[in-house]
Amino acid sequence: MTPEEFRKLGHQLIDWVADYRARAGEQPITTHIQPGAIKAAFPAEPPQQAESIDNLLGDVERLIMPGITHWQHPRFFAYFPSNSLLSSVLADYLATGLGVLGLSWASSPALTEVEEVATDWMRRMLGLSDAWSGVIQDTASSSTLVALLSARERSTNYGANAGGLQAQERPLVVYGSAQSHSSVDKAALLAGFGRDNIRHVSTDAAFAMHPAALRAAIEADLAAGRKPCAIVATVGTTATTAIDPVKEIAAIAQEFGLWLHIDAAMAGSAMILPECRWMWAGVEAADSIVTNPHKWLGVAFDCSLFYVRDPQHLVRVMSTNPSYLRSSADAEVKNYRDWGLPLGRKFRALKLWVLIREQGVDGLQARLRRDLAQAQWLKGEIEATPGWRVLAPVPLQTICVRHEPAGLSGAALDRHTLDWSEKVNRSGEAYVTPAQLDGRWMVRLSLGAHLTEQQDVEALWRTMRNCAET
Ligand SMILES: Cc1ncc(COP(=O)(O)O)c(C=O)c1O
Repeated sequence: MTPEEFRKLGHQLIDWVADYRARAGEQPITTHIQPGAIKAAFPAEPPQQAESIDNLLGDVERLIMPGITHWQHPRFFAYFPSNSLLSSVLADYLATGLGVLGLSWASSPALTEVEEVATDWMRRMLGLSDAWSGVIQDTASSSTLVALLSARERSTNYGANAGGLQAQERPLVVYGSAQSHSSVDKAALLAGFGRDNIRHVSTDAAFAMHPAALRAAIEADLAAGRKPCAIVATVGTTATTAIDPVKEIAAIAQEFGLWLHIDAAMAGSAMILPECRWMWAGVEAADSIVTNPHKWLGVAFDCSLFYVRDPQHLVRVMSTNPSYLRSSADAEVKNYRDWGLPLGRKFRALKLWVLIREQGVDGLQARLRRDLAQAQWLKGEIEATPGWRVLAPVPLQTICVRHEPAGLSGAALDRHTLDWSEKVNRSGEAYVTPAQLDGRWMVRLSLGAHLTEQQDVEALWRTMRNCAET
């Protein structure tokens, strides 16, 4: 493809995306396609000869769009909001168009330095002190893995340089809550802790980690000859956005000398609102934090921010320094390859930098406040309606709800919950996620898609009532 051909198709592509977004609310949110149907529309063999892609967009409409779930739809209330604001989409195109890789500072200096600027702007927006240094990872899963690798190496005095975990006399233990995201277990497994050494600390009535139970678990492990290593506290759990008590947990981490990682993948965006920062009070005593601007904040996926208090330790854990990547500037610059897993780094910082400039902190704050207000409105409606129950506190934009008609309980109530949520999703009017809480099915309503206005939340509530009550 020549630059001129690219220009022609590129204009069409931008027009197509602009039209898609302008019509975002007009189509059913989900697809009801049969498994395998998309694949079946493609030839099994790749084209041997070069093909014209003049009709690329026609093929996208024909082959791909039937299998798309519309995450940017104003009535998308499933999973979590993964807003992809158009300014950050443009920045993503730009990053790809530049086609540069950050293997080292010298391999594209602006890539590193814009990342330093954007992560530091975010640090200020989140109300964090200047003791924190940030880097962009792909996802919270990777950030948490890097956190647990750092914890492991601190606990073992850089044991990876010798016999690694296999040479440790005492097994190292990681603590999360029973509501932690599965990525915490996955990170602990990949970092070699072993399933036997992962503790799921019990939670209270609000689904937040019980500090007393955490302390008891640590003491029991010490008594059994194991070595407590790291705690992962979640600010905004996946199921209910529960808030683990960071301050009390940090005091325990300090008392026992454990690494404290804060998983604020979803809720971290809300920390740009000063009125929400009570949720992570005590965070300054942690060792690492992850938050995902690719969720609620609006940066096109993927963009996960990882902050550490001791970057020198991180670099010592993650660094490899082959000769072809060394440069005379190394003593003065950051080489982000030593801050995470991959060597190659995309120019992701452009997405964050452009979004912050285009929205301004005021714009981002106003949207998140709108979402919090909508969630409180819907919570009030549900609580005021007989037969409906809100199952967990609503500190943010997620509401866990159950319709509990008289006489229904246990498995029959579960069937009813799954039935009405399926009806909502099949209606194409709204998209919600059924999930289990305390072993029983409920429905999670995750507000915060950037196009969602009050009328969409009202429509969601009408659809829920229609589907559940009739
Ligand atoms: C609290 C929490 N942690 C971690 C994750 C995993 O995020 P990622 O997909 O960026 O790995 C999620 C995803 O929803 C989450 O809610």
